Amino acid sequence: MKQLVIVGFGHMGQAFYKGLRAQSNLKITALDRTPGKAKSQDCQLAQLEDLMKANYVLLAVKPQALPDLDIAQLIGPETIIISMLAGTKIKTLKKYFTHNHIVRCMPNLPVKHQAGVIGWYSENLNNSLDQEITEIFNCLGESIQLTNEKLVDKITLISGSGPGYLAYIQTLMKQEAIKLGFTQKQAETIARTTFFGSAICLKETNSELLTAQVSSKGGVTEAIIETMQANGFDQRFSESLQVGFERMTELDKNA
Ligand SMILES: NC(=O)c1ccc[n+]([C@@H]2O[C@H](COP(=O)([O-])OP(=O)(O)OC[C@H]3O[C@@H](n4cnc5c(N)ncnc54)[C@H](OP(=O)(O)O)[C@@H]3O)[C@@H](O)[C@H]2O)c1
Repeated sequence: MKQLVIVGFGHMGQAFYKGLRAQSNLKITALDRTPGKAKSQDCQLAQLEDLMKANYVLLAVKPQALPDLDIAQLIGPETIIISMLAGTKIKTLKKYFTHNHIVRCMPNLPVKHQAGVIGWYSENLNNSLDQEITEIFNCLGESIQLTNEKLVDKITLISGSGPGYLAYIQTLMKQEAIKLGFTQKQAETIARTTFFGSAICLKETNSELLTAQVSSKGGVTEAIIETMQANGFDQRFSESLQVGFERMTELDKNA
């Protein structure tokens, strides 16, 4: 059985564990500053020999924690290092890990429900290792092998951060529902179910078509969207993503 050690068992480390535990045949262990996090999820703690024998080590700490992560010499030379650290380039990872195979990936939180998007890139895997990585990532949702490293940074803005800003829009919808006179509980149900129902519709149609289906000519939805556009919503959204991109560049400078 192949072995995976998850280093950093916070939100994403646990999301990977939950997603992979349900779907893959990997032996998974975890290493975190707080061992109780792994225990609370029924995940075995990684021992030194697990790191040495691991086929894969998944780095799931914050980018700022990389310089203090003193484990490279404990990991077997043939191990594939998989990093999900936002903005942290392979060139930077190589300062800490001399391993032959380093994979950079950008997952998102829905991997824990096997509904994630994982964009990934590696400089020097061969076809069979590509296949191995694809099989692991496909257990967690849709994986996309990217043709250059810059695309890992770019996909972060869309799928990596996406669940965060989509949830933020849901919060705005809730706040508006409360202002309109609904109770907190009703507002929660209205906003959450609208999101969930829309996501189900979007499985069988695309976003442009769904917008068109809901926006009848001269109707309420059309008025809302046209006003958003006239007020510069699209442009502001694009500018906000650009600011996210600049933040990501700073993360790598500090590593
Ligand atoms: N959150 C997302 O949606 C998302 C999406 C895509 C990619 N990412 C990337 O995923 C990574 C993890 O993000 P996260 O949101 O899961 O962060 P998180 O919840 O803070 O988890 C990081 C974990 O690593 C632990 N840790 C820190 N230093 C360590 C060390 N030296 N040895 C062992 N464990 C250590 C932390 O412990 P302490 O709590 O004690 O510090 C924490 O449990 C980041 O690099 C981020 O860029 C996140």
